Amino acid sequence: MSGAAREEQADAENVRAMLADSGYSEKAIRYFLHKPYMGSLPDADQVSAMTGSCGDTMSICLKLEDGVIQDVRYEVLGCPGAIASAMAVVDLIKGKRIPDARSLNDGDVFRALESIPAQKHHCIQLAVKTLQKALDEYTQPVSP
Ligand code: FES
Repeated sequence: MSGAAREEQADAENVRAMLADSGYSEKAIRYFLHKPYMGSLPDADQVSAMTGSCGDTMSICLKLEDGVIQDVRYEVLGCPGAIASAMAVVDLIKGKRIPDARSLNDGDVFRALESIPAQKHHCIQLAVKTLQKALDEYTQPVSP
């Protein structure tokens, strides 16, 4: 392993330890460190964004076919809780029909993350509200 790679691994271990100490589960930490669905979709059918009361911002890209969510990406300018929540939302809604995705709530995401600090629960709300805004805008497009 090169010196730079070793340093990177040590950094990730430090971040992991800090997040675990503040109440993040191993699963939530993995979502935050690996960011499996971070980015955008060039052929998205819907792109929507939302800013939370904390000032953090998320945007979501949805790819749909026949009312089924095929692919999802989030871009997150925010805290580890926001990133972990957004990534968990994607795993919960991929392959689901629009009404099922719309009924996703904060509790579902909280259970999927297993544990995040209590003061980070609004980060889950931001991820869910961003999804709901995108589904609303997709199903009721604003006329020009
Ligand atoms: Fe703003 Fe987490 S602190 S979304």
